[in-house]
Amino acid sequence: MLIPRDLLEKYNKAVPRYTSYPPANFFEQDHQNIDMAGLLEKSNDNPTRNISIYLHIPFCPKLCLYCGCNTSITRNRDKINEYVTALKKEIELVAKYIDKDRKVTQVHWGGGTPNYLESSQISDIMNLLRKHFAFNAGAEIAIECNPAYLDHDYIDTLKNEGFNRFSLGIQDFNEKVLDTVNRDKSAIPVKELADYIRKDGKAAVNLDFIYGLPYQDEESFKNTIRKAIDVDPDRLVTFSYAHVPWFKKSQQKLEAHGLPSAEKKLRLFEGAFEELTGAGYEAIGLDHFAKPDDELTVALHNKKLHRNFQGYCTRETTGQVYAFGTSAISQLDDAYIQNTKDVKEYVSKMNQNSFAHEKVYLVTEEEQVLREVINEIMCNRVLPWKTIESRTGKAAEEIKKLTAINDQKLQQFLDDGLISLDRDHLTVTDKGRFFIRNIAAAYDPLVENTDKKFSKSI
Ligand SMILES: C[S@@+](CC[C@H](N)C(=O)[O-])C[C@H]1O[C@@H](n2cnc3c(N)ncnc32)[C@H](O)[C@@H]1O
Ligand code: SF4
Repeated sequence: MLIPRDLLEKYNKAVPRYTSYPPANFFEQDHQNIDMAGLLEKSNDNPTRNISIYLHIPFCPKLCLYCGCNTSITRNRDKINEYVTALKKEIELVAKYIDKDRKVTQVHWGGGTPNYLESSQISDIMNLLRKHFAFNAGAEIAIECNPAYLDHDYIDTLKNEGFNRFSLGIQDFNEKVLDTVNRDKSAIPVKELADYIRKDGKAAVNLDFIYGLPYQDEESFKNTIRKAIDVDPDRLVTFSYAHVPWFKKSQQKLEAHGLPSAEKKLRLFEGAFEELTGAGYEAIGLDHFAKPDDELTVALHNKKLHRNFQGYCTRETTGQVYAFGTSAISQLDDAYIQNTKDVKEYVSKMNQNSFAHEKVYLVTEEEQVLREVINEIMCNRVLPWKTIESRTGKAAEEIKKLTAINDQKLQQFLDDGLISLDRDHLTVTDKGRFFIRNIAAAYDPLVENTDKKFSKSI
């Protein structure tokens, strides 16, 4: 047993996932007086010069019953074409305010199913991005793909457009599990797709899995992970199935098949963890795994791992995120801006040439300092006080006073073997990595005084 069950009982509390700081449920609806153009212009003067671009494609042809993503099911090409036109308008609208000498280091296409677009539509948008933004030669250009709708020609077009990272959503190789969740399996064997993507050594392959679905058991899920290891991905994610049927109604249908208990779910995760680390993959955060020479693993060892809403990245690649499309969240150094989730409203806003934001959060200077602390724990499993001092220009003692940490909390983590301390560092132990969200939350003054809801930490 990898995760000590006694500690689990003690620490399995509702705490933020910290994909951002402050967490996304702190973003506010009230944005009447926000000067969006001013915010974008000001972002050029923020310390982070690099630009990350996120594009959201909220369409899929068929609904996977477990799906928690922001998507709508349609086969109506007119609706999709209208959306693509709106997306191009948004790119032109935002690009006007961004310094031309800043460089794009990262582009991420997410969804929904971005590869449900015609490949020519992806080319059009990439051309528009290259027209309005200067790309760094080594920019990471990544796309989330459902392999059921991927073929050799499509991959060729994406590679010609410079895509160098393909995330394939597998979820499980077991056909009974896939049938139950209403998901088509890959039309072309996944290993063949992955080999084709990497054949010239210019692109990498990530695979996504979910544990906690009906009919998954320890042995069958281990088999799935062994098959995944045989595909030899550069990175792999095992997402814990987030069951939120009050919010995603279609998930209710899975209950009739029986969902694994909390203990069984843990064992599914532990089995996958053991298979992957046994095969030489290194755990990044809780549920991401990467090869030892992958840039994320190298960044973790050099304490330079970073993350944004799109996942883990290195400090070098990460820029301020400018996000396009419905529900997309821009992450500027001093503000988070989320677009409307409604496709019709989004298209209509773009037709009026106006911004489509629905929620905004202005990050105070204090919160920017706290974000350094939370990010270092969540990404690098360490608090390097000297580094944080030099990044923020504040003394460690002053920073600690902004946080919610106290001697009693630290002593408890020490007694439970979750951390070690020296004068300049707090380091999360191997055991502590499973409780990393609890350790981060102990520093977070926002969670102490809130009635907001979070998911359990494990
Ligand atoms: C937008 S989807 C990926 C692209 C594509 N639509 C697909 O399904 O292959 C991103 C990933 O989120 C994960 N995911 C979706 N719903 C989830 C849920 N309810 N709980 C946990 N992970 C989920 C899946 O692993 C999926 O591959
Ligand atoms: S294809 Fe991906 S985004 Fe679409 S419904 Fe399935 S999991 Fe959700």
